[in-house]
Amino acid sequence: MRLSAFSSLRRLAPQARAPPGAAWSARRCLVSRVEMASPPSADRDQFSELRERSLLRHIISSSTEGDPDSVMHAMDEFWDTYFNGEGTAEWKLRANALDQAIRTKNPMAAMEIGAYCGYTAVRIGRLMPEGGKLISIEIDPLFAAIATKVVEHAGLADKVTVEIGSLENRLPAVQKKGTIQGTLGAVLLDHAPSQYLPDLQILEREKLIAADTVVLCDWSLYPGSDNSEQAPVERDAFMSYLKDRGDAVTVKHQLRDKDVFTVSSWDFPAI
Ligand SMILES: C[S@@+](CC[C@H](N)C(=O)[O-])C[C@H]1O[C@@H](n2cnc3c(N)ncnc32)[C@H](O)[C@@H]1O
Repeated sequence: MRLSAFSSLRRLAPQARAPPGAAWSARRCLVSRVEMASPPSADRDQFSELRERSLLRHIISSSTEGDPDSVMHAMDEFWDTYFNGEGTAEWKLRANALDQAIRTKNPMAAMEIGAYCGYTAVRIGRLMPEGGKLISIEIDPLFAAIATKVVEHAGLADKVTVEIGSLENRLPAVQKKGTIQGTLGAVLLDHAPSQYLPDLQILEREKLIAADTVVLCDWSLYPGSDNSEQAPVERDAFMSYLKDRGDAVTVKHQLRDKDVFTVSSWDFPAI
């Protein structure tokens, strides 16, 4: 998904971004005919179903099995249509920053927290080196199931594993399986900004973060983040923590003075 999808996620994943205590609305899972654009190559009637199912249906019917680029293209196309191309600049910025960081780091082990339907799992997975592993953690079982299928369809099942649950829940099992050898080369935090710091600290406690681990954060999806007092507070607290921990260098990818994506590391050339 391109930024349309990106801004879309702001609307699609309110539980990830909503203030504490905000109710998770089942309505977010339903596609309203009123808000719907014409989806590509699909019968409009099919779109009165869960939108993520529609996304999977579109991916399977319009992309080439085993070709990650065509899977990403299908997802971009779906969200572009759904959101009428809104937010493309922000999405492109994030996608390029993510690709650049992963290409430069070339991690043997990486983790993503917040898989949604698997777009960034495919995006990162296609760049993982031979023998490299990406663990993608998603708290919503249905999204995790869809992401698993999307990753498999993209031909990346040997490189990407989707785990259902939170980091805290799933890390013991991940470690037991021995999927991560040594420390993580890259971590993408793309779930709930209030969880970025506690989850990073869990990884630190488990000795999975090294001086040359690249920490990637998405700051652009917080609903109403432009007006939220909480989003900049959480971001600043997170950045201060990285700095205090050992003088981390952070590259900010910004659009109109707003942080969209940050790439931080303590001991790795600035990306
Ligand atoms: C912004 S979306 C992720 C987008 C995805 N990385 C992509 O670009 O395709 C955030 C996702 O994080 C999930 N999430 C929220 N809190 C979480 C948590 N504590 N642990 C794991 N996943 C979580 C939500 O269910 C949602 O699917």
